[in-house]
Amino acid sequence: MSRLRDAVLQLYYERYGHAAEWIAFAPGRVNLIGEHTDYNDGFVLPMAIERGIWIAFSRLDTANVAIYFADLNRDASFPIDKIVRSDHSPVEYVKGMAHMLSRDGIVLHGWQGIVQGDIPVGAGLSSSAALEMAAGAAFCALADRPWHPIEMARRGQAVENEWLGLQTGIMDQTISAAGQAGNALLIDCRSMAVSPAPLPPGSLVVILDTSTRRGLVHSAYNERRQQCESGAKHFGVAALRDVSVETFMARAGELDALTRRRCKHVITENQRTLDAFEAMRAGDARRLGALMVESHVSLRDDFEVSTEYLNAIVEAARSHPACFGARMTGAGFGGCGVALIAAEDADDFVAHVEREYHAQTGKTPALYVSSASRGAFYERV
Ligand code: GLA
Repeated sequence: MSRLRDAVLQLYYERYGHAAEWIAFAPGRVNLIGEHTDYNDGFVLPMAIERGIWIAFSRLDTANVAIYFADLNRDASFPIDKIVRSDHSPVEYVKGMAHMLSRDGIVLHGWQGIVQGDIPVGAGLSSSAALEMAAGAAFCALADRPWHPIEMARRGQAVENEWLGLQTGIMDQTISAAGQAGNALLIDCRSMAVSPAPLPPGSLVVILDTSTRRGLVHSAYNERRQQCESGAKHFGVAALRDVSVETFMARAGELDALTRRRCKHVITENQRTLDAFEAMRAGDARRLGALMVESHVSLRDDFEVSTEYLNAIVEAARSHPACFGARMTGAGFGGCGVALIAAEDADDFVAHVEREYHAQTGKTPALYVSSASRGAFYERV
């Protein structure tokens, strides 16, 4: 973490000839369990990862934001008193946050800054949410606003939904904004209550990047949302969160086969997520791992958002004796899996998955061991 912090500060100095006044950070995330439940008012259990987005910045006297995206070698700027949407370039996330903050009456100041990160883009580790939260942190710093994680997460979600037209839920922004070092967070996506859950002692989380990127994710994602909404309508409730596993089992026959599969995933996944939280509180890695495996099967067979690559990497992980459990993570259709393993065998596990996944698919995966990071923050340099 501090290596990239130093690098972005150094870059700022080289580019502008003086030291940056501020630094902001927001992490990416990996979801341990609770997939496609957030937009059903349900439960999720993600953790913030060590990879994230840094912004080194200083206040400007003009009403302008000027950014250099170091990873893309691209400059962008916009006036904060007249923010207009343009294309889908990364600066839209920053503009979107500025728009949502000023809509809420927060007085914005101009700044110049350098954005640099180490979250692979399109891998399902929420680089967009991290950029939204890091930009939000920069604006908050200059507006002298304390960091309110849930308010900021809602603004980030509004950027996705209203500024960019993507119907995503609130999980990614919440965990990036509210993450706690050493803990995953159970998030109740209706009440927005968050409860920390430590990783079981002696276990590690490994992110399993298939090296495939999400395709068609937005149309398939919106389609899943609609299917869930029609399921909720059938049960006469506000969201599938309100249907218990028992009620579903008793009435499943009323639904058409497709809606039944989609509802089954969401309703059982909500229960698995609550069970996983209990397992974490009890330090039970085996139970947590078993729930992760059930989650994967449900996402693969009932929600149908996995891919052959995600299945292959999950199987490769599960075939190692140190693995308590593994599953796909995030929206699906490519991207990453996540595994919970016994910490002492991490090196052997990583080598095994790299070998097995390559043998099965011909692709070279990227594996990252990650501890749970703190959430977004800003500070004076
Ligand atoms: C994406 C969305 C989240 C969530 C997950 C699936 O990451 O941004 O809101 O719906 O997919 O769990």
